[in-house]
Amino acid sequence: MIRYGGDYNPEQWPRAVWAEDAKLMREAGVNLVTLGIFAWAQVEPAPGEYDFGWFDDVMNLLHDHDVDVCLATMTASPPPWLGHRHPDSLPVAADGQRLSYGSRCHLCPSSPAYREASLGLVTRLAERYGAHPALHSWHIGNEWGCQVPACYCDLCAAAFRRWLSDRHGDLDGLNEAWTTTFWSQRYSSWEEILPPRRTTGIPNPAHTLDFAEFSSDALLACYRAETEVVRRAAPEIPVTTNLCNVMPNTDLPAWAAEMDVVSGDCYPNPGSPDGHLESALYFDVWRGLKDGQPWWLLEQAPSAVNWMGTNPAKQPGRMRRDSLQAVARGADTVMFFQWRASRGGAEKFHSGMVPHAGPDHPLHRSIRELGRELAELGDVAGTRVQADTAIVLDWRNWWALEQESHPSDQIRMMGRLRDHYDPLWKLGITTDVVRPTTDLSKYRLVVVPNLYLISGEAARNLASYVDSGGHLVVSFFSGIVDERDQIWMGGYPAPLRDLLGLTVLEFDPLLPGASTATSLGEATLWSEHIQLEGATAMETFANGEPAVTRHAFGKGAAWYLATRPAPDAMTGLMGRIAREAGATPAVPGLPEGVEAVVRVGDDVRHVFLINHTDQAFDEVPARGVTVRTERP
Ligand code: GAL
Repeated sequence: MIRYGGDYNPEQWPRAVWAEDAKLMREAGVNLVTLGIFAWAQVEPAPGEYDFGWFDDVMNLLHDHDVDVCLATMTASPPPWLGHRHPDSLPVAADGQRLSYGSRCHLCPSSPAYREASLGLVTRLAERYGAHPALHSWHIGNEWGCQVPACYCDLCAAAFRRWLSDRHGDLDGLNEAWTTTFWSQRYSSWEEILPPRRTTGIPNPAHTLDFAEFSSDALLACYRAETEVVRRAAPEIPVTTNLCNVMPNTDLPAWAAEMDVVSGDCYPNPGSPDGHLESALYFDVWRGLKDGQPWWLLEQAPSAVNWMGTNPAKQPGRMRRDSLQAVARGADTVMFFQWRASRGGAEKFHSGMVPHAGPDHPLHRSIRELGRELAELGDVAGTRVQADTAIVLDWRNWWALEQESHPSDQIRMMGRLRDHYDPLWKLGITTDVVRPTTDLSKYRLVVVPNLYLISGEAARNLASYVDSGGHLVVSFFSGIVDERDQIWMGGYPAPLRDLLGLTVLEFDPLLPGASTATSLGEATLWSEHIQLEGATAMETFANGEPAVTRHAFGKGAAWYLATRPAPDAMTGLMGRIAREAGATPAVPGLPEGVEAVVRVGDDVRHVFLINHTDQAFDEVPARGVTVRTERP
């Protein structure tokens, strides 16, 4: 069964509306809601005074209408009483400013007051609803780290020191890892170490890097503490939390390891011509977090959002296409934010499954149609997406890559990921997104965009993949530093030098807006001076120096890109490499813009064809979706 529904916030509505909601949900095919995400102040109106009566009624009402509940732990937005009584439960920004309550997600992960109050609430929720027949899963917090990824307060300073002592052992280890011989930054006692608060100039990059990982871990510790409580009360109930698209704020692989099911929220800009590529990438990232296990789309907008500045509506058919694209790429659950559009508050202009006009509205009718269609696709659930190509993404690299004081400040992880992902998407090749240390042996082609920070283990993994016959593409500014952000000595990219068969003599990045001529056409962003050491130049810069190289290594081949070709040239190049590697489109022969993904189960293949163009193609109408089920 495919689960279908949305965030349900009954606390915003009088009881009479709840009854209508439950009836409408049943009629729309809704079988799951995420409940109570921002209900803390309503169930605990004053410290330690709980009012669960109304919430019991909602749980029972939903159960009576066959709607299951992904129950939120309600801890994402503490009530004003907590911040008022305990200012140290509020987060502090890098400039020392404490953020006030009045919005949401105002929490310091190291605050004992926040921990105590949040776990008190979760304990009561778990005791009260752990055995409720409507309970389907736990939704821990909400989009951790999305609004406030890091807190710089004194409590976090102390927690950061403990984290550092676990990581580096003693002060000597820390001083060594952070290269504190530079600029007289040597620490002589733990008390001197602070979060990387606003300072005079360029901060110590290793300090900032460790703080990014600490901050993800600090939030993860809160998530884990809540998880332990609900697991104790209801060990069989799966636990998840909704990832906020794909951001550097939290280390998603580390988080996914503590989730029973990965789930995420995706909000492509309906006005953007390539919003569907952005979504496809997020879906592939989430699927990769648990080795291809089906995941849940916990939030998307039925139509417009309210937070993009200008918020275009989704055109007819777009909501269905977005939803089926998620299913194609491995989702077993399709949910929205939110069930009923709010009457007041900051999100009143965010679309809902039931709009302000009520259910007799084209948007709600399309919600019902989607409910019917998903019910018919029930046996897609549990099947796995087929992919023979992988793209590598690593969070510690992401944090390090985007530090200040690099050869170019134009190299951003998401943009670079898209520079590699989009051509593969256009070629119809389905990609998994994996870590640099994942076993790559099942892939025909592995693409590594800008893996600036690389561990020795990851470098060995890439080499052994190629050695045993794999095809690898590595792009510039990869293999430069180790996990401490210290240069791998011996000529860039030292740990990949043998594998790539070259060394980079000097980086020569291009100014914003500038381009350089290559045999592949104009290229932007980056160039460099390469000395070949076994690799062959396949494409060159205008001065004849190598721009794209190929090195036969063991039974496979390692390609290297020393610049950023224009999108079409990049698609052509990736197509050439993919053909050599034997990586194939999911469905060959489709025109660009018709996305095909295959989900495979025991004796069944579900072929999803999603047409993002205005031209009909064979069995797929313009802007339409066709799902073909094949039983060999
Ligand atoms: C999400 C958030 C929801 C809602 C939604 C609006 O990031 O989890 O609570 O605010 O955005 O698009």
